[in-house]
Order: sequence, then structure tokens, then C-alpha cells
Amino acid sequence: MILFRISLNPVPWFDVKLANENIKFMNDFEDNDIVCRHMQLTKADIVKVIRDKKLTTFEQVQDETDAATICGSCAADVEAILEEELKNREEG
Ligand code: FES
Repeated sequence: MILFRISLNPVPWFDVKLANENIKFMNDFEDNDIVCRHMQLTKADIVKVIRDKKLTTFEQVQDETDAATICGSCAADVEAILEEELKNREEG
């Protein structure tokens, strides 16, 4: 099925391309990329706390790092990082 986007913008896909270049999904994060802009936390910062303190819940990560405690826009990414770490922990 093909969906068409209705827009008054004469070049709508240009806007979409520009927007997508600024969006990083969890799998795209490099260790030094900022995940939580408000707390200036990189993926490596979050992973280190999860590993060092053996965290298992999103709330624990919030308590230890303050990630996702201001605007919350990074919450899904923080949760995804935690899930990946827990999966890696289970696999040894
Ligand atoms: S970006 Fe993480 S709380 Fe705003």
C-alpha cells in the first residue's frame, strides 16, 4: 500500500530529509553522542552507570543520572540503552 502525504509545501520531502538528519535513533548512537541534552549525558555515561551500579530499571537510571528528568524527550532512548545493557548482561 502506498501512502501519500498531503502538504501545502511544494517540496515536502525536503523538509522530511532535513528533519531526519537531526534525529538519531538508539541504534545510531555512538558512545560519545549526547543522549540526554538536558543533563549532557552521552551513551557511554549512561552505559557506565548501568554497568557499575548494576541497574535494572529505568527509574534507577533516572535516580542515578537524572537522565529524562527534565523534558523526558530522551526517555525512550535511555530505556532502549538500558534494555540493550540488560540483554547483554543476560547473554554474559
Ligand atoms: S533531553 Fe533528557 S531530559 Fe531533556
